[in-house]
Amino acid sequence: QKIPLVLGLETSCDETAAAVVSGDGRILSNVVMSQLDEHRPYGGVVPEIAARSHIDHLDDIIREALDKAGVSFADLDAVAATSGPGLIGGVMVGLMTGKAIAGACDIPFMGINHLEGHALSVRLTEEVAFPYLLLLVSGGHCQIQVVKGVGQYQRLGTTIDDAAGEAFDKTAKLLGLGYPGGPAVEQAARLGTPGRFDLPRPLKGRPDCNFSFSGLKTAVRREVEKLGQQITQQDVYDLAADFQLALTEAIIDRVSRALDIFLEQHQADQHILVVAGGVAANSYLREGLERACGKRGFSIVAPPPALCTDNGAMIAWAGVERLRLGQVDDLSVGARARWPL
Ligand code: KG4
Ligand code: ZN
Repeated sequence: QKIPLVLGLETSCDETAAAVVSGDGRILSNVVMSQLDEHRPYGGVVPEIAARSHIDHLDDIIREALDKAGVSFADLDAVAATSGPGLIGGVMVGLMTGKAIAGACDIPFMGINHLEGHALSVRLTEEVAFPYLLLLVSGGHCQIQVVKGVGQYQRLGTTIDDAAGEAFDKTAKLLGLGYPGGPAVEQAARLGTPGRFDLPRPLKGRPDCNFSFSGLKTAVRREVEKLGQQITQQDVYDLAADFQLALTEAIIDRVSRALDIFLEQHQADQHILVVAGGVAANSYLREGLERACGKRGFSIVAPPPALCTDNGAMIAWAGVERLRLGQVDDLSVGARARWPL
């Protein structure tokens, strides 16, 4: 039996991405075009600009993905495209393009939940068995899920306001550190000393695993206002350090709760926390998570960075996993701005 080839499309935020992945987990190509430079002047992703840019570039990105994989449309066995959640204009671009290709080639189509793409991507490069815990921390999402199987997810917690990456980006803006804010704040925090500012650890100690970051951001704003015109470079570094500390402690508290719940509720041979999303690149957070996991006998597995941030391979792979189980869609599947796993 032929090993299937799946084309994956991702257009839900500010990456235009296409990839070809085989049923046995080989990434034949994974092309990602970031729109970062187009959004940078605005200090965040502008939905209308994102949608237009996906339209301008997706055709070429797909062409490139096929060429790099050394295949043509006729070699594809299925198409998977993100159908939500995300910025709706962009989602529609990828979804309609994916349906058109599937329709023209007369092959199965799958509308993939972007979060499912993140949740399963680790299995593309590592042998991780169900169930496992997932911490997804990106610019748009902040969630803890128990991944029980393909299509079987138990959400233990989510953010009730901002995502973790959003908190980094907004704090960077307040501190005049540029966009994207995460790497800039991490850099600044290295030059600062935490302990000067009294910032909150939102939701710490709660029995659920939810997150909240808007209060933390407001507290940073207040400190910036207190410092006023006299704010020095060192103040900025110290405040960045305290912000990073507070956010890390808050996340670790929520994750520790999730580890306990997992141990109580699930039987698993291995105890694994998969960490994905752009914020997972933060080494201060990573070290904190490793300590918290170590204490409870969990090991951390992170997909390689290129699979951790938004990409087409994770969507193609989710397609592979669903195709195996016969979970295909018909072409009536719609785009969804909101779509909890
Ligand atoms: O997963 P991602 O590339 O894109 C989506 O949000 O879908 O995540 C981007 C987010 C941005 O908010 C960025 O500021 C944050 O990840 N980020 C970081 C770091 N690198 C990227 N946050 C903290 N520390 C970092 N080193
Ligand atoms: Zn994402």
